[in-house]
Amino acid sequence: MPVVAVIGAQWGDEGKGRAIDMYAERARLIIRYGGGNNAGHTIVNEFGTFKMHLLPSGLFYPHTVNIIGSGVVIDPSVALAEIHSLKERNVSVERLFISDRAHVIMPYHVVQDQMDEQFRGESKIGTTGRGIGPAYADKMSRIGIRMGDLLNEEVLLSRLRQVLEIKNKLLTTYYGAQPLSLHEVYLTYLDYGRQLADHITDVQPIIHRALDKDVGVLLEGAQGVLLDIDYGTYPYVTSSPPGAAGAAQGAGIGPTRFSSVVGVYKAFVSRVGEGPFPTEVHGQDADALRQLGTPWAEVGTTTGRLRRVGWFDAVLARYSARLNGFDTLAITKLDVLDQLPRIKICVGYRLHDTELDYPPADIVTYGKVEPIYEELPGWQKPTSACRRFEQLPPQAQQYVARICELVGARIGIIGVGQARDQVIEVNRVL
Ligand code: GDP
Ligand code: IMO
Ligand code: MG
Repeated sequence: MPVVAVIGAQWGDEGKGRAIDMYAERARLIIRYGGGNNAGHTIVNEFGTFKMHLLPSGLFYPHTVNIIGSGVVIDPSVALAEIHSLKERNVSVERLFISDRAHVIMPYHVVQDQMDEQFRGESKIGTTGRGIGPAYADKMSRIGIRMGDLLNEEVLLSRLRQVLEIKNKLLTTYYGAQPLSLHEVYLTYLDYGRQLADHITDVQPIIHRALDKDVGVLLEGAQGVLLDIDYGTYPYVTSSPPGAAGAAQGAGIGPTRFSSVVGVYKAFVSRVGEGPFPTEVHGQDADALRQLGTPWAEVGTTTGRLRRVGWFDAVLARYSARLNGFDTLAITKLDVLDQLPRIKICVGYRLHDTELDYPPADIVTYGKVEPIYEELPGWQKPTSACRRFEQLPPQAQQYVARICELVGARIGIIGVGQARDQVIEVNRVL
């Protein structure tokens, strides 16, 4: 029974949405297992172009069941808005289930996130401002509200009474913000619970039943491994574990059940927000990679910020592959490199007079490393119409093969355009 985890292998926005969209056609169950509406997954299909922030990207296929797992943090207003906008575009959400164990992003989390960023000043993280960090912090501090709580008047009221007392002290004394009315928050969140009641449930029996049958299960990653709370470029990270371990935990599936872990890499690298980025490029090189003016331009899906871009970093790529046990790679946006005469890959770092093949944990040191590049010839031919590996220009084949060699995994799919069919599948995982 195939259980495939699709994981962002860089700093997010690798094109996970399009990979999930492709694999979901062959799956029965799709589970978003972590993060929240900091994510933005672009999907281009027969219904149009969609930017999914919270809902699983499998919803477009009527034969699938879609789950928001316990590891996700949920802003109910965003969930409702996304449900509404899908319905308006004739996409059914009847097969959507939300874990009653998933934590709720509350209004104070959003205030905390945005004010914390202001207080950090120059050393801001560049968060999406959606309350993600504070919601995960409260979960760990055991003062979180869970989706299941929204379904029970008594539980919600007593939970809110306890938590708002703490939060209002924090809001008024530390943040200099207005306190929140218990009555108003209670009524608003009770109403969210009522509106989402058909979706909120114990999802574990659904997941475990699917595992017992021979159906395809797809674990939809959000963010990327280099934003991982433990292994990313801390503190310039998100507050969850976006990798394969997070997939097991957030979906409630034992790691021995995984049949494949697919690492999604862009053919170059992008990053939104602050933090070290050794292979970052600027000026004309950056413009070439950003492809501004195209529908797939490097502009943040969630916040509209211009993404920082750079050359493929094989040191980081191998690091994330090892952390997650990637057996198969998805390489997206190969077509974006079509015009370049030469393409660089970072194969090591130089720090003073030593060479490193791992990123240092400390970001001050990491900020000082110099990439060691290898240069490959470009192909300077369009690839968007290619549908088989052999149809790619030899230099493009060589580029993909070199990445696989450096990362240590086989190629699964290669993206050569934004549309659903603009993909080359070399090895199947599902
Ligand atoms: P995600 O968050 O990992 O799902 O990625 P995003 O949706 O935030 O960003 C990826 C962008 O690249 C989107 O605009 C996708 O439509 C686009 N994209 C994905 N794969 C390809 C590809 O192979 N070629 C091109 N040109 N665009 C792609
Ligand atoms: P998808 O799923 C790119 C980044 C933010 C910021 C850092 C912390 O579309 O790949 P947070 O709001 O999570 O506390 O912000 O993480 N970030 C992302 N960058 N894609 C994402 O999601 C991201 N989710 C968070 O820009 O640097
Ligand atoms: Mg994205």
